[in-house]
Amino acid sequence: MTQFNFGGVVEDVITSDEFSLQKARDVLQNETVAVLGYGVQGPGQALNLRDNGIRVIVGQREGGQTWQRALADGFVPGETLFPLEEAATKATIIQYLLSDAGQVTTWPSVKACLDEGNALYFSHGFGIVFKDQTHIIPPQNVDVILVAPKGSGRNVRLNFLDGSGINSSYAVFQDFTGNAKERTLALGIAVGSGYLFPTTFENEVHSDLTGERGVLMGCLAGVMEAQYNLLRKHGHSPSEAFNETVEELTQSLIRLVAENGMDWMFGNCSTTAQRGALDWAPKFRDAVAPVFDTLYEKVVSGEETRRVLEANSAPDYREKLNKELDALKNSEMWRTGATVRSLRPENRKKI
Ligand SMILES: NC(=O)c1ccc[n+]([C@@H]2O[C@H](COP(=O)([O-])OP(=O)(O)OC[C@H]3O[C@@H](n4cnc5c(N)ncnc54)[C@H](OP(=O)(O)O)[C@@H]3O)[C@@H](O)[C@H]2O)c1
Repeated sequence: MTQFNFGGVVEDVITSDEFSLQKARDVLQNETVAVLGYGVQGPGQALNLRDNGIRVIVGQREGGQTWQRALADGFVPGETLFPLEEAATKATIIQYLLSDAGQVTTWPSVKACLDEGNALYFSHGFGIVFKDQTHIIPPQNVDVILVAPKGSGRNVRLNFLDGSGINSSYAVFQDFTGNAKERTLALGIAVGSGYLFPTTFENEVHSDLTGERGVLMGCLAGVMEAQYNLLRKHGHSPSEAFNETVEELTQSLIRLVAENGMDWMFGNCSTTAQRGALDWAPKFRDAVAPVFDTLYEKVVSGEETRRVLEANSAPDYREKLNKELDALKNSEMWRTGATVRSLRPENRKKI
């Protein structure tokens, strides 16, 4: 554990300098890790664990496309690929990576597979923190731990392959064996985390739900649409509105912000852009602050998770979701986006 100064606040973080991959292998040498669910996080974490030399099996309900994907990734039925309960029974560490709604549905049968001393691993605090809604209450005789990558499962894999990693938070909710923290850190390193920072199950779920509803996706989509609509209302072409709203952000500015920070960005744009952005940033901050207050309240009160569980467990969930996504895809703004992307030189060459 090393202390780092984050903007004046000292925090403990763990990298592979403090907890090497070899140490992770040693800690996990007698463990069998079952990754239950092969959706988005499942493949990323399972493949990274496998490539890092950890004994890993996959638990997935049979028959569907997801089972086929696990097969295509080299998991072998009866050897390293099993139905959910069979995998859970064979494992000492159970990584519960079904969708959060799927975890609620399957919990009674997964709970029945847990043996004393097993570790039940989550990548989200949802199931445990909102137990009044999920009814996920683990038995006392297992470790309950969390490693939550702060990125899509797809990047968990891609960043592992390019050597960069995705940062993850980690937490121990229940330490039955006395080794829960070692197990957690070993898994965090072995799934390919860039660095690991401590949290609690509660803080993880509150910040994660806020982030994805806020700046990462919900707020971002909302403000992009507002600006695009404004420009279109005032007679700007779709191409101009899209380039000024999305393309310049994703293809240029955000990459520079990722590399150097916003202060650098403000210091390295035109003085015209700089003056305006510095003046308008506080106005946007103050305008959205009340929306963020409401969002956080709804996250903490459980209203957001209740909505997720209701929507995602409805029998026509897929159909309804597809309708919403189609509406977005077919909106003028995102149809324009598709054309703009097709015109990028690297895509034009492929045509
Ligand atoms: N998505 C991310 O990148 C991300 C990032 C950080 C943390 N997390 C957390 O990681 C966990 C997994 O998330 P995810 O996005 O990877 O999940 P996901 O893709 O939505 O999960 C799909 C998996 O769950 C299975 N499943 C769903 N309902 C089921 C049911 N009733 N019975 C049996 N299997 C069922 C699916 O099987 P079928 O295909 O057969 O339906 C598939 O294997 C969640 O706790 C999530 O909050 C996710």
